[in-house]
Amino acid sequence: MAANYKKDMVVYQIYPRSFQDSNGDGIGDIPGIISRLDYLRDLGVNTLWLSPVYKSPDADNGYDIADYKSIQPAFGTMADFDELVSQAKQRGIGIVMDLVINHTSDEHEWFQKAMAGDPKYRDYYIIRKGKNGKLPNNWGNFFAVCPWTRIGDTDEYYLHLFDKKQPDLNWHNPAVLEEVKDIMRFWLDKGVVGFRCDVINIIYKDTLADGKKQLALTGIEHYLSTQGCHEILKTLRREVLEPYGAFAVGETVMVDIPKARDLCDESRGELDMLFSFEHMGCDDLGLKWFKTRLSPKRLMHTLDKWQRELHWNAWYFENHDQPRFVSRFPDGEKHRYACSTMMAGLQMTLRGTPYMHEGQEIGMTNGDFRNLDEIQDVESHTVWEMAKHLGIPKGMRWKMIRRTSRDNGRTPMQWSAEENAGFTTGKPWLKINGNYREVNAAREMADDKGILAFWKYMISLRKSEPALMDGDYFLAYMGKNIYAFERVLDGKRLLSICNMSAKQVKLPKQLAQWKQVVASNYEDITPVMRPFEFRLMQEEVECGD
Ligand code: NOJ
Repeated sequence: MAANYKKDMVVYQIYPRSFQDSNGDGIGDIPGIISRLDYLRDLGVNTLWLSPVYKSPDADNGYDIADYKSIQPAFGTMADFDELVSQAKQRGIGIVMDLVINHTSDEHEWFQKAMAGDPKYRDYYIIRKGKNGKLPNNWGNFFAVCPWTRIGDTDEYYLHLFDKKQPDLNWHNPAVLEEVKDIMRFWLDKGVVGFRCDVINIIYKDTLADGKKQLALTGIEHYLSTQGCHEILKTLRREVLEPYGAFAVGETVMVDIPKARDLCDESRGELDMLFSFEHMGCDDLGLKWFKTRLSPKRLMHTLDKWQRELHWNAWYFENHDQPRFVSRFPDGEKHRYACSTMMAGLQMTLRGTPYMHEGQEIGMTNGDFRNLDEIQDVESHTVWEMAKHLGIPKGMRWKMIRRTSRDNGRTPMQWSAEENAGFTTGKPWLKINGNYREVNAAREMADDKGILAFWKYMISLRKSEPALMDGDYFLAYMGKNIYAFERVLDGKRLLSICNMSAKQVKLPKQLAQWKQVVASNYEDITPVMRPFEFRLMQEEVECGD
């Protein structure tokens, strides 16, 4: 089965609540996105992934869907959505929907009917009796709460691997598969080009037996990348995506390379590519909440491993679940221009499809939250409670949240130095970063040597240079802070060099013979790589004999 993506795809993630408000209610919306389509076209991206825009009670900001075929009223109407697809298309931009099918909202009609006792819909969910007055099993939960919620005062519970308002669907029931096929066709008929599939490799639970006890996510061995999940992906691919030529990128938790290959190897006909997480762990101690200093070495080792071992992948450094990368590097914020542009250089030269997150192109930083009251994210609150329960002192708890909270990547887009950063005329749903007077798109648009200009340049190179789109990857050098790799195609060789630190590093000898500069985030080329310096060099190789 052929791949359904184009190699020149550059994807931009929109978190609709935080992108652009058009009606002053403090929440971003679809007309707001439409009003910024020219900005996105000028940036050069050709695909937009929308985090969920469906009707939802927003327990998890839309990742709890109450109706898969309608638009969240705060975001606009279905007519607005159709307008977005058509206006985006006119600008050569395709829309990707977020497909959240591990769970629904507890306010979805299916769940409501299930709770009312309708046997058809009870079988859409995972409902079990407790065992001897205890929970049905010993599993853990991604949001650090109990994964079983008792149904009224019965002895039955429903399973939810996330919030209690996100009941898991029962993928053993063929009717669930039929419903999802129908939902996907509904959006494909509207002209969307593909789906980003939320936590897709945990949807099919092999058994509900107790799991092997571990620090977090006990029971995961019973549902991580199971054969049942592979079968579902193959069916969706063959019966739904293929006839439309649509593509699928999976968000896949805890995948290693063999698991990733099984999910996105072209010959298997499942996903086109996936989001892996290993490189996101370059500054943690095994659990994302326990952070340490970012290790450039760990980061580059992980990147290199995945580049070598997987033919194609989805490359991201930020999204709505992750802190901003400029804030993750030690002294990254201090060197904001160099750090953000180095990341642009890295992301646009790696092999695979680049996925950027709104605000990355202007070097946005983590939120400047002062206390838990300013944090909205459900996970941050549940983790706070769990940490309290474990006796972790308040100061330490706050440090954990401040550094890792998902709200860091969700603060409203900083459009200008005007009030509320030009995001809304009302009260923003989440605190806008106080640095918006310096960090904003308007300022960047007026600066042809700024961060935005560099991202634009790198995006255009990425889309026009065959060696960047299609070339092979070879590691050229890996030191403590310097990561250099080649992209090679038909005799053309490009060398991407990144200084992943705020330290000056002498350019390694073996990289010094490359003389021709294609891109650089410093004005001149010296024998020293300055803080977060990026260079793209080229060398023509003589072909023939
Ligand atoms: C992954 C999404 O990216 C995240 O935001 C969400 O909370 C969980 N899946 C549950 O849907």
